[in-house]
Amino acid sequence: MFSYQKLLEENKIWATEQVERDPEYFSRLVDIQQPEFMWIGCSDSRVPANELTGSQPGEIFVHRNVANMVVHTDLNMLSVLQYAVEVLKVKHIIVCGHYGCGGVRAAMTQTSLGLINKWLRNIKDVYRIHRDEVDAIEDETKKSNRLVELNVREQVMNLAKTSIVQSAWKKENRPDLHGWVYDLHDGIINPVFEILAGDHIDPLYEYDNL
Ligand code: CO
Repeated sequence: MFSYQKLLEENKIWATEQVERDPEYFSRLVDIQQPEFMWIGCSDSRVPANELTGSQPGEIFVHRNVANMVVHTDLNMLSVLQYAVEVLKVKHIIVCGHYGCGGVRAAMTQTSLGLINKWLRNIKDVYRIHRDEVDAIEDETKKSNRLVELNVREQVMNLAKTSIVQSAWKKENRPDLHGWVYDLHDGIINPVFEILAGDHIDPLYEYDNL
């Protein structure tokens, strides 16, 4: 059996098990999804949103990219964000990074990696903003882990800078924004930052005509 065929076999077993446990499992989800959470996570295969939060299909609306970035020109992320906020009306948006993130570590080097340089540039910008704090840390692992935390914080702030989020804050007093970091060593998520609905950010980024 090819490795990919095992995925299809496991899928059949999984679907059968779900129905055995709960006959309404699929019929409940087929017509409607009402997730309370949007998740922006790293594409890293070791950080799956549902598994590590003990949540089920239907509970988390997920967007993943390299190093869980919120880039203001990224049509893909913005489309997911707009749908989550304006149609699904999620109450919480979680940006979840992880210690040891390869994207963050690559952004700290001077190695050219081709196309992805353009993506990692956004992380280099975060490093530059927090250069004094990060460079004061000598241990390389601790240094990159601190940048992981600062990057999550910066991406949460990038969410707050969007008119999509600010408009929902003004009209419906949601969503709250959460910055978390997952630890691959023990499976624990560390909350590092949050901005609650209606909090004020740098006025330069606050739209007053929404
Ligand atoms: Co990563």
